[in-house]
Amino acid sequence: MLLENQIVVITGGAGLLGKQLAKGILENGGTPIISDIDFKKAEFVSNELNKNRKHGTAFPYELDINSNSSVSLLVKSLIDKFGHIDSLINNAYPRNKNYGAHLPNVNYSDFCENIVLNLGGYFLVSQQFCNYFAEQGKGNIVNIGSIYGVIAPKFEIYKSTNMSMPVEYSIIKSGIIHMTKYFAKYYKNKNIKINCISPGGILNNQPKVFIENYNKLGINKGMLDASDVIGSCIFLLSELSNFVNGQNLIVDDGVCL
Ligand SMILES: NC(=O)c1ccc[n+]([C@@H]2O[C@H](COP(=O)([O-])OP(=O)(O)OC[C@H]3O[C@@H](n4cnc5c(N)ncnc54)[C@H](O)[C@@H]3O)[C@@H](O)[C@H]2O)c1
Repeated sequence: MLLENQIVVITGGAGLLGKQLAKGILENGGTPIISDIDFKKAEFVSNELNKNRKHGTAFPYELDINSNSSVSLLVKSLIDKFGHIDSLINNAYPRNKNYGAHLPNVNYSDFCENIVLNLGGYFLVSQQFCNYFAEQGKGNIVNIGSIYGVIAPKFEIYKSTNMSMPVEYSIIKSGIIHMTKYFAKYYKNKNIKINCISPGGILNNQPKVFIENYNKLGINKGMLDASDVIGSCIFLLSELSNFVNGQNLIVDDGVCL
């Protein structure tokens, strides 16, 4: 019960990773706020989690991480309902319809839009929550980065698939890792802990050839299940990680080595 009575907001909480993180928060006595631009999916995921839980309740909220008013409404609604917010997990994954083009074909306006949607959104939510955390006298943020914010893509594993590793993704994720350090240091003496988790690839019905190529890079497993990220996230959300600040925790079965 490492997160007893803690209110934890997960942006993009209705997605692949968000749902597993919410499950881990419930199992540790916390209250996950499943905030997502797709409110119906957030409701569905919350209902599913609430059916099987032993304790606590997951709550769905509508949130657009690119809208100042949507973010401030979420903060206000949560304070009105719970009286406090303990943690934020920046996990949403916005992208426009042309996202994923190969480098020579990336249109400049799509590039700019995708950077703003994702990195810009993480900045906006972090900024608004930090304003609140500074006033509250404590707070905690876990940013979800990626190994591709740390290392150059392994393009060879995408061969024989129609998958790509978008250039925007690498730039966004390395930006998120450095944003983590900037924010952590900026809020000196404010009792706000800000860290990042950089997961490796997560299983999600990828082509067999891709999974086989990827798995050769891992030490024991290779591609992760979304649930493999829960433990590291609970560690960073809990008091176990007091004084771990501004760090990037790579969870990738050694793929980066
Ligand atoms: N899936 C992987 O292999 C993998 C690996 C490493 C890191 N990650 C990171 O994990 C995080 C979650 O990824 P995922 O695979 O669960 O993605 P996903 O697409 O399954 O879920 C993302 C969620 O974000 C929501 N969303 C999109 N735009 C939004 C907005 N403007 N405001 C609020 N919510 C919005 C979507 O509705 C969706 O529910 C991302 O940061 C991703 O980069 C994923």
